[in-house]
Amino acid sequence: MLSLHVATTSFVANAVGNHRGRTTSLSMNEAAAKAAWLAKLDAPQWGPGASMPMGATRDSAPAAAAPVAAPAAAAPATSEAAAKAAWLAKLDAPSWGGARASAGGLVNDFTCQWLSDSEKAALKATADAMSAPNKGFLASDESAGPWLRAGHVDAAKVPDTEENRAAYRSMLYQAPGLSEYISGVILHTETLYQSDASGRKMVDLINENGMIPGIKLDKGYDTSGIPGTVVGPLGHPETFDKGIDDLDARCKAAYAQGARFAKWRNVLQIDPANGLPSDLAITLCVHNLAQYATICQRNGLVPIIEPEIVPNGNHGIEACAVITEKVLVAQFAALKQHGCYLEGAVLKPNMVKNGLAGPKATPEQIATATVTVLKRTVPVAMPGIFFLSGETALDEDNEEEATNNLNAMNKLYPNLPWSLTFSYGKALQKTTIITWMGNVANNGIAQTAILNRCKANSDACQGTYIKGTCASVSVDGNVAQAGGAY
Ligand code: 13P
Repeated sequence: MLSLHVATTSFVANAVGNHRGRTTSLSMNEAAAKAAWLAKLDAPQWGPGASMPMGATRDSAPAAAAPVAAPAAAAPATSEAAAKAAWLAKLDAPSWGGARASAGGLVNDFTCQWLSDSEKAALKATADAMSAPNKGFLASDESAGPWLRAGHVDAAKVPDTEENRAAYRSMLYQAPGLSEYISGVILHTETLYQSDASGRKMVDLINENGMIPGIKLDKGYDTSGIPGTVVGPLGHPETFDKGIDDLDARCKAAYAQGARFAKWRNVLQIDPANGLPSDLAITLCVHNLAQYATICQRNGLVPIIEPEIVPNGNHGIEACAVITEKVLVAQFAALKQHGCYLEGAVLKPNMVKNGLAGPKATPEQIATATVTVLKRTVPVAMPGIFFLSGETALDEDNEEEATNNLNAMNKLYPNLPWSLTFSYGKALQKTTIITWMGNVANNGIAQTAILNRCKANSDACQGTYIKGTCASVSVDGNVAQAGGAY
């Protein structure tokens, strides 16, 4: 018997209230949220016209529980298209007065000239659309099958067949109104070239439902790892990902099949006592990702750059903060060295958290530590930062934790220069899989479940999610989530 936990809102009522009768127009709430988001870009706390409190510094005052500001002068957007056009125009208008290429590229870009203006314009348009306000990615590129990664005793019973994967994923991609919360869907190679039971291509289902298809391109890692490196908390040495050799051809094929962005995840482990991650592993990780990124860009694909520092271990949040900052500094230095076009790329980092067996940090501590590191390391040229949810302890509700942590960041720091959002796999899908359980008769209620969790995370992008209001299976039935290469 499935028991869903929800504090204040019933599971079904939530879905009915939020998703029945969608039209392409924005609701007043959505229009107000988008206008407020645009106003935030226009009104930096530290900028001209902003009154800075006496004695305050730029970083001193995360607005505790500040409500989303009402739009200043701009008239509220009346349609989603108008809001998007206004948002894109704002991002394209350089504050230093540089001229714009007619195609929307940067003609006064003097340092990234290996791509043409039109290639850059196309990459930037895709990256901006991926980073649209209050939207994230649905990571559905699991190799092990989503039911094995989900970390639930019942989910693991769904037979991991090609037919089941197609049935489940085609159900997800067709959830009505999903594009209100999801900009891009990350696919496994199998899915990119797959059709549903009625013969429709998966990429068509995604496009028709208003989202952008992307492809996972790393080929994972062997646990034999980098020779001579120390065994870490994952139980194997440090690793490097395979897949660069034939990457160019796979990018071309993926683009031809409809993908417009890509993902590559490298893994680093923390063990401060044994010097992990080693400088060697960090160097291999960031250069491998930078090489992947530029090969993608040469082929018209926006790269998601994912240097994941896994939470396994008993370290505190401080160790994760120090190492995440070090890795991201190295990552952006490597991207510069390889000539990556930052406006046409996005980052997928871990949040700064305690180790799975370490002293537990609160969402507010996680938010502050994470945003502090990101402000120090991620150039504002990059339009979006999309967190992975990561492995969680067995006594944690991974879906709620991921939503609450994201919410705390956007609530405490409402004026960030990037879209700070989600690219969750496990933390979007656990309740949905348990609701579906391999039975197409459950498609409707499973779609309700995915829509609810995606909406919760969209609210978290605005700092307005109320803890406990999205139904989840909570911690009941938690088992170890399948680990290793994604
Ligand atoms: P999670 O399942 O940890 O959210 O990760 C998503 C992902 O795409 C990792 O590469």
